[in-house]
Order: sequence, then C-alpha cells, then structure tokens
Amino acid sequence: MDHTSIGEGDWETLQSNLEATIPVYDRINRFATFGQDQRWRKMVQQRLPEQGKILEIGCGPGSFAENLEGRDLTCLDPIPAMLSVAEPRVNEKRLSKGYSKAMFVEGTAESLPFDDCSFDAVCTLFSFRDWYDKPKGLSEALRILKPGGKIVIVDPAKINRFHGWLGYLYMRVWVGSYARIICKQKEHPWKWLTKTYVHFGTTKHYVEMIKGTGFKNVKSKLIFPGMATIWEGTK
Ligand SMILES: C[S@@+](CC[C@H](N)C(=O)[O-])C[C@H]1O[C@@H](n2cnc3c(N)ncnc32)[C@H](O)[C@@H]1O
Repeated sequence: MDHTSIGEGDWETLQSNLEATIPVYDRINRFATFGQDQRWRKMVQQRLPEQGKILEIGCGPGSFAENLEGRDLTCLDPIPAMLSVAEPRVNEKRLSKGYSKAMFVEGTAESLPFDDCSFDAVCTLFSFRDWYDKPKGLSEALRILKPGGKIVIVDPAKINRFHGWLGYLYMRVWVGSYARIICKQKEHPWKWLTKTYVHFGTTKHYVEMIKGTGFKNVKSKLIFPGMATIWEGTK
C-alpha cells in the first residue's frame, strides 16, 4: 500500500464527502472519540509557541482554530464551504474577546501560498491523513517555517497491523453505525474515514517521512486511549 498518497482522483471524491460532513462534523467527532478530541486538541495547543505566526493546514470548520484565541493565526483549507463556516465561527469569537481576526486562505498543503520562512509553527489536525501527496505537503511546511519553527500533526495512525485492524473495526462499526443514524443514509460521508485510515501508514512510517523531509527532533506519541498519534518536529 502507498502510504505517501491517496491519489488525486480519490482525493477529489474524498473532498466532496468531507464537505458533506460539515453540518454534523463536531457532533460525530465527539461521539467517535468518546469526547477525547478536545483533549487531543489541547495537547496540540500546548505544543505550539505562545508568540509568533501559526498556520493550521486543513482547518475544516474551525473546530481547532476557535481554541487558538489571541494567537497570530492563519487557517488554510481547500474547501471553500469549510472556510465559510470556519471564518465567522473563529473570528466572531476572537472579536468578541478583543482579539484580532485570524486569516482564512483557500489552498492545499502541497502548494502553500506563503513565502519561505514566514511562520513560527505549523499544525494540522485530522487532515494529514487526507493529503494527496504527504512528502510534498511536509516539504512545503518546512519551506514556510522559520529556522527553529515547529510542526505538530495529529491523526489516527496505527502502531502495527493488529492495532490497525482494531482501528478499522472501531471506525467501521462504532463510528460508521453512529454516522449512518445521524446522517440518515447508508452511503454516509464518514465511510471515507475508514478508507483513508486503511490507506494511512503506521506511526513509524511518518516519523521516517518527517525526518526524511529534513525536520529535526522528530518525536511521536500514541495518545490515550490509543486512537491517535501526535508527531512533532522542528526546522
Ligand atoms: C477532518 S477535517 C479536520 C478539521 C480540523 N482541523 C479539526 O481539527 O477538526 C480535514 C480537513 O483537511 C482538509 N484537507 C484535505 N486534504 C487537504 C490537503 N491536501 N491540503 C490541505 N487541507 C486538506 C479538508 O478539506 C478538511 O477540511
């Protein structure tokens, strides 16, 4: 299996399915992760610098970005409908608390529309799995980071085949059944969660890939209760 890419044809179908998740995105995530997604988001937040420019790649409907109040934040996503939900959600909250607006930009990880060495940190939550060319996206993140800048990634990787098989069952049965009820359709968009998970490699694969891109101090940690991994590295 190719763990570097999901193929551009599949990626386009995946994107239209992701767009269909918008109305129920947070609700299904909360159920699927037993409420742990918020704790995982906090773990990413704690790993990001307090000062400096932060880029979130694949911000989706703003579920993480809304927590980064007061930070100098840019959010990027290829789906215009995601950005039009995320922007008011994040910026209304920021403005009501007296913080400046975050910037929202349409684009993909593989072709970041930013200058070299222009960000202090890059984060990506539950999106890396979907990138159609992961090495390219990582090298773009490296390019736009300042020297010493940090990358933080969270996604549900597998530690080995057995763990991957358990993950597959959990997504297919637990998440799939709930999504089917909530979306009131058999062909619900969350089926793509299982498909992208099957394609996704092990935690170790991506430690090697992040190192191979040129990041230093690369670490990974399987986070409780074993459904997700957090990777980090510096430029
Ligand atoms: C599951 S959502 C994650 C939303 C949010 N980051 C969160 O914490 O819940 C994944 C997002 O990644 C975006 N995405 C998929 N492929 C991408 C790519 N190649 N480059 C940038 N973003 C991508 C999708 O459009 C989608 O909005």
